[in-house]
Amino acid sequence: MAGTVVLAYSGGLDTSVAIRWIPEKYGLEVIALTVDLGNEKAIEPIRERALRLGAKKAIVIDAREEFVRLCVWSALQANALYEGKYPLATALARPLIAYLLVETAKQEGAVAVAHGCTGKGNDQVRFDISIAALAPDLRIIAPVREWTWNREDEIAYAEQQGLDLGEFQKSSPYSIDVNLWGRSIESGVLEDPWVEPPEDAFAWTRPIEATPLTPRYLEIEFEQGIPVALDGERLDGVELITRLNRLAGEHGIGRIDHIENRFVGIKSREVYEAPAATVLLEAHRDLEQLTLSKEQQRFKQLVSREFADLVYNGFWFTLHHADLMAYIQSTQRFVSGTVRVRLHRGSCTVVGRKSPHSLYSEALATYGRGDQFNHASALGFIDIAGMSVRVQAARQLLPSAEALRGLMPPRTEPGIH
Ligand code: ARG
Repeated sequence: MAGTVVLAYSGGLDTSVAIRWIPEKYGLEVIALTVDLGNEKAIEPIRERALRLGAKKAIVIDAREEFVRLCVWSALQANALYEGKYPLATALARPLIAYLLVETAKQEGAVAVAHGCTGKGNDQVRFDISIAALAPDLRIIAPVREWTWNREDEIAYAEQQGLDLGEFQKSSPYSIDVNLWGRSIESGVLEDPWVEPPEDAFAWTRPIEATPLTPRYLEIEFEQGIPVALDGERLDGVELITRLNRLAGEHGIGRIDHIENRFVGIKSREVYEAPAATVLLEAHRDLEQLTLSKEQQRFKQLVSREFADLVYNGFWFTLHHADLMAYIQSTQRFVSGTVRVRLHRGSCTVVGRKSPHSLYSEALATYGRGDQFNHASALGFIDIAGMSVRVQAARQLLPSAEALRGLMPPRTEPGIH
């Protein structure tokens, strides 16, 4: 054959059909690459399936540790939530998978890489932009984007190719993407934004009715914006997130229902489960409120939104990303300490926080004994802070009844003046 292509292989029907279709259409030999990011599926059967379908080689890379260290923790330090809702699990995984595809292609001397994305989603954009940035000469093949088939046509092709369709009988009527940072669930009945997500859409979170009546308190320790321990037990990132997904999921935390603006211009209804992400983002943001100044917090919100959009749109391999990250990481030097959360009946509430670098001063905040705030200087502070307001009111607001009315209409009811 004319060369080799490395295919990002999930083990699902689309990429399985692609193992047969690519050699037929392009005359290339397929190497299947399956990247484990905490997808929860047994990987060995996926590898075996690829070989059975005719891949000349099937490679598995466990990239969970890199995923957490390089992608997830950055997003947490940034407090990244796309459109204020989506913790970006799927989006964060794409640049790492693209990177591993390119690396594998180089090692194997491949002339192309392939992925199973459709032509309507964000994932194709993220893959294609990242691959082209890292390896401009590598050809990209996206079989599903090329097919003009409907589902029945695809199944007919699979049958004609002798695929055992029993293996792909999906237990779920949804399209699902899973990694440690969350589960993304779309299509099926969810396409109607009026329909409440049915219980069978969820796998990590209990329905509120089935959650424990007693709250679970949990202490999360952070070092420079990165969680390092749960209830005093130091854990590596993969273990910490895995445990927290289980724990918070039991309390029904982390279900997200989002009418999302895709990069390709479509609005789509997306449902997510992200128990660990929900808890960690909540706790991290709270610790920043304790340890960052007001100005740092406010400016960081802008950077955070920019970062979330950039990740969502697939602009990972850019210097804009590097520059935003430099700022975000710099803000984290004092974001160390412990946050106490209460997990209960679908919500995660921060109930306590402490840090050796806390900017909170009880002596300044207290209304009780030991108050060190200088009340006398409050008068001078107000005099200067309100000066521009007084000048404008005197010259423009008070002489013009109309201008004043716009801000506070005169009340005419009897007894009020
Ligand atoms: N809408 C989300 C995103 O663009 C989730 C996509 C889910 N992807 C999938 N292949 N099912 O990041």
